[in-house]
Order: sequence, then C-alpha cells, then structure tokens
Amino acid sequence: MNSKTSATRRAFLAASAATAAHIWVPRPVKGYCVAEVLAPVKPMATGISKWDLDTPALCVDLDKLEQNIAKMQRSLAANKLGSRPHAKTHKCAAIAKLQMAAGALGICTAKLSEAEALAAEGLDRICMTTGNLSVSKIRRAMQLRKRTPQFIQAVDYEPNAHDMDAAAKEAGIVADVVIDMAVGTRSGIPPGDDAMALAKLVDRLPNLKLRGVLSYDGGAQHITGFAERKARALANIEGNVKTFEAMKRAGLNTEIFSGGGTGTYNIQHLVPGFTDVQVGSYLFMDMQYLAIGGADGNPVYSDFAPSLTVLATIVNHRFPGRLTTDAGAKAFTLNVPRPGVIGEPGMDYNPGSDEFGTITFKESRKTYKMGDRLEMIVPHCDPVVNLYDYVYGIRKDRVEAVWPITARGHSQ
Ligand SMILES: Cc1ncc(COP(=O)(O)O)c(C=O)c1O
Repeated sequence: MNSKTSATRRAFLAASAATAAHIWVPRPVKGYCVAEVLAPVKPMATGISKWDLDTPALCVDLDKLEQNIAKMQRSLAANKLGSRPHAKTHKCAAIAKLQMAAGALGICTAKLSEAEALAAEGLDRICMTTGNLSVSKIRRAMQLRKRTPQFIQAVDYEPNAHDMDAAAKEAGIVADVVIDMAVGTRSGIPPGDDAMALAKLVDRLPNLKLRGVLSYDGGAQHITGFAERKARALANIEGNVKTFEAMKRAGLNTEIFSGGGTGTYNIQHLVPGFTDVQVGSYLFMDMQYLAIGGADGNPVYSDFAPSLTVLATIVNHRFPGRLTTDAGAKAFTLNVPRPGVIGEPGMDYNPGSDEFGTITFKESRKTYKMGDRLEMIVPHCDPVVNLYDYVYGIRKDRVEAVWPITARGHSQ
C-alpha cells in the first residue's frame, strides 16, 4: 500500500469510527446456492395410494397409457404406417422409451432444448420438427447431430439451409434434414415450387443430406366429426402430395413423408406415399380431444383412454353449490375447455384463478368437505405436463412409478 492510499484509508477509517454508531451492519444470513434454488420439489414415494399424494399432482394411469401405446402401434401397423410419436406432449424420457420399446421409428421434438434433454437420457432417434433460426441454435443442433448420429433436423427456409450447411461443415458432419412443408399457414414452406427448390438446395449442399418431408396439419386434428375431419385433412394435404411426388420423380430422397396426429392417425394411410405419423396426445388424451368425435359416430372420441389427470384438494366447502380447490391456472394452464371432474358430470370446474379452482354445481354425487380429493381430466395435455416436475405413474390407485418430466420448461 503506498502512502497516498494508506492516508486515504486512514481518513476513511477515522470517518467511519466517528459515525459507526449510526451504521447498520446486517448480520450474515444464509443464502441459497443455485442448486437449492433450482431443486424441484421432491416427489412422494412409490407404493402409496394416489389419494395420499400432495396436490396438485400430475398422474398418469399406467394401464390406460400402455393400452393407448399398444393400440396406436397396432392400428398404424395395420395401415402399414410407422409411428414417430411427438415428445412435445410428454417431454418425458421414460415415456419416450416405452414408445420406442413398442416399435416407434423414433420420436419427434418441437424444441432444440427438448431434443438435447431427451438425447442426454439416451433417446437417439430424434426428428426435430421445427427449424432453428439463430446461429447459436443452429450450431447446437449440429453439435447434437454430431453426438447423436440419428438426429434429423427440419428446415423450411433457404437461408437457414445455407446456415445449417455451414454449421454442419464446422462440426465436421453431414447432417440429416427433412423439409417442413406447410399444410395450412402456421409453419413450413408452402408446397409447390418453393418447397421443391428448397429440397433441391438441401440435396445439393455438401454438408446436408435430404431425408424427405414433414407435413403436419395442425388445423385438421380437432375438427369435430370424423367425416368432416377426414374430408378436410385429405383435401388440405393434396398440394403436399403433389410436391412430394414431384420430388420423387426428380430423384430426390423421399424416404420420409411424416405428419398427422391423434385426430387423423386413422386417416393418414389414405395419403399416397405417407410413411409415418407424429402422434402426441393419444397417450394422455384431454378434454379438447375427447370432444372431437370418433369414426364410430360416437360424439366422444374414445379411441384412446384419458390417462392423464390432475389431483386436487378441496380447500373450501363452506358455500352451497361451490367448492374451492388448490389447483388453478398454475395446475391446468387453460380454463376452456373446462377440466373434466371424474365421477361428477354436473360440476363446472373453472381453473381461471392462479392458485385456486372454483367448482360450481347444482347436484353432486357426494358431499365433499375440506381435505377431500378430486381428480380431473386436463383441458389440453401438452402445456399441463410442462407445469410439473414429475408425473406419478398410477396402477390400481397405487403409485407405481415417479417419472421426471425430463424436458419440463425446455421451450427454447
Ligand atoms: C408438428 C407436430 N406433429 C405432431 C403433433 C402431435 O399432434 P397430436 O397431439 O394432435 O397428436 C404436433 C402437436 O401439436 C405437432 O405440432
């Protein structure tokens, strides 16, 4: 310390001593380390009754889940289609592994971070169905492809194909690519000349390998009434089929023609050249899908059983015709359509407030009191799953498994 600083410091200490009586010095407090802040709430143990779970709790009925997986696999195989289930629905490595074990060709992801998280758990056949536009994500995707050789990346934009080619070169790989061809207007390159030009570009670029085409019709999945859904789904995809056939005639690789979902899984085989279906919600089902009606004319879509539920606790029973639960918007995300209260068809469950669900009813099958539990089918499965760290696997009312939602919150 030189004399100047030391003099300054002496002056500071002197001034401090003079005012010390007025300075409040906080006592040391224990802070949280990053791991503590990020630590999820610990799950409850297996073996207990589901009715003893702390709530809100996300549950999946394992018998129903297994039946749904088996039924989808059987049905697609009978129609000579493969399955490439979309993991955006469950974000859960354990469930993706069940789908793979049942014979899926691979899984899909919507987001890169979702793909990274599932790949880290050993899922190696991943098709990312959306493009990456930032330099950083394109590089990450190519690094993921390097670690996971069966990773396939969608592209729907020519400059993006050039960027991917450069990133693949930098990573020292030739990356597998599918063209995301729009059905409707949400995402993807329109079928026709634009899609053909992009396919030819990908085919030409030295560090990319064209594998085929994606064509998911988000607008058709929830059309009410099977006949209408079928007619519109088949009409919507006509342009894609023409472009796909033109790609084939041009000698481009068309080994993948993938799309479709839970609402059209039993329609997609009528699309010429279609190879596999990217079903997601069929695993769990939800109030949205139950309302679309089935091919059997039943207004309830009953091809797959609603396996996913949220358990809630009644926290107020004091007002006639009303109950309050501990599961609101942070447990269900949407309040339209309403969660379906199992066993109480006369109840209207509004999860519109942040922390509370409000139930109104004229009649109920039971008289409820505080602390009682209710079980609800969720409005729309994908965003609900993303709210929970774990899903409890239930068999015959017992907790048999606790599965982390591996890619929970991985929305980048
Ligand atoms: C591209 C893509 N494929 C497949 C699916 C799965 O659809 P579903 O949940 O209707 O089966 C989705 C869902 O939004 C999707 O965006």
